[in-house]
Amino acid sequence: MHLNETTSSDRRSILKGLAAAAVTSLAAPAMAADGLPAQPTGAAAAIATDNAYWTAVRGLYAVTPDVVNLENGFWGIMAEPVRREFIRQTDMVNYQNTYYARQRAGADFEAVRIKVAQAIGAAPEEIALTRGATEALQLLIGGYNKLKPGDSVLYADLDYDSMQYAMNALKARRGVDVVRFDVPEPATRQAVLDAYARALEANPKTRLLLLTHVSHRTGLVMPVAEIARMARAKGIDTIVDAAHSWGQIDFRVGELDVDFVGFNLHKWIGAPLGVGFLYIRKDRLADIDRDMGDEDFAETDIRSRVHTGTVNFATVLTVPAAVTLHQQIGAAAKQARLRYLRDYWVSRARGFKDIEILTPDEVGSYGAITSFRLAGKTSKADNEAIVVKLRDSHKVMTVRRTGVAKGQCIRVTPALFTDEADLDRLVEALAVVTGTKTG
Ligand SMILES: Cc1ncc(COP(=O)(O)O)c(C=O)c1O
Repeated sequence: MHLNETTSSDRRSILKGLAAAAVTSLAAPAMAADGLPAQPTGAAAAIATDNAYWTAVRGLYAVTPDVVNLENGFWGIMAEPVRREFIRQTDMVNYQNTYYARQRAGADFEAVRIKVAQAIGAAPEEIALTRGATEALQLLIGGYNKLKPGDSVLYADLDYDSMQYAMNALKARRGVDVVRFDVPEPATRQAVLDAYARALEANPKTRLLLLTHVSHRTGLVMPVAEIARMARAKGIDTIVDAAHSWGQIDFRVGELDVDFVGFNLHKWIGAPLGVGFLYIRKDRLADIDRDMGDEDFAETDIRSRVHTGTVNFATVLTVPAAVTLHQQIGAAAKQARLRYLRDYWVSRARGFKDIEILTPDEVGSYGAITSFRLAGKTSKADNEAIVVKLRDSHKVMTVRRTGVAKGQCIRVTPALFTDEADLDRLVEALAVVTGTKTG
């Protein structure tokens, strides 16, 4: 159920409470929002199906009724309290202009950095804000200064295109060999671990590994800590692409057991578009070059690794409201709900004629995102035709994904405002598209 389907008095009281709470003057940090019922407790399955709770959460989002949006991997729709805070901050910055920016923005941005660091379980000195995961990861990959000519760097087919390009660029920049391998399909946790072990073994000159926590192609969640430990045992550093994971998956950065990570805040944390951050473990800062455009910060300050220029102040100032709401809904509850929504459609569609589900059912190997393809339909044209049919004939929005070694596929990504009726629409559409007789 979406905003326009809750009763108007429910909606008013939820939004009033949350809007009041989300109006964060950074001098007076965000209060706990009081419009939501208490976070459900108990087993993940019970949390995920607490209807009163999720109806209230869905009521926080205003989304178009024109289509069932199951393409929420691009970026996250802001919840209404966050959107209002963004408008308030936009108005404030526009009104105050440099009178605000020159006097107070520095301290306010520092408060944002501290809040994000606390939420992800890092020290503030270990993170620097960026305009998104792309900027964060380009600075980490490009700035990693321990490579020597003749070394190798390694990545896989499931890694994000522009991060693959950044790894490829290391050939000219650092004189390294670039090695690419394919993650097995169908994937299982063990098959993935074995594939990484084989790739590391087969490429003994490897010194740097790119690893994506949650694949934007198939939704596969990688066993990051295990792979990074395997790599470390061979003297290999790992840069993790966590663009899609924080907020979709419940974890603290220490659990990844890696030294370099790039994050987004505008996907699953629900901040306005244009913000993310990088993490460099405290004792590893010297291994990432300072940004060539920075002489403002000390070499020992992680902020010297990012020099963005003038940013959208309001975007950054809205991050605390987004993080507060993320914490209030509850990271574990979000993960349980998103997995439940994924399981809801996958369990119904799995037996459909010719359908191949590319993301394994193993607990810990998936979050919200799962991709499928029809057997033998691996081309752009095949998959685009299905995406268009789902959108135009069934009013279900999905997206075609490229770059998987075994062929193109279609990604389905529910969000916190998705409900079972939305997924029933998808399942019915898939029955038609696959020619499966149901009922
Ligand atoms: C795995 C992955 N890495 C990196 C990015 C880049 O994120 P952004 O474009 O928000 O900077 C994305 C975006 O979808 C992604 O899915």
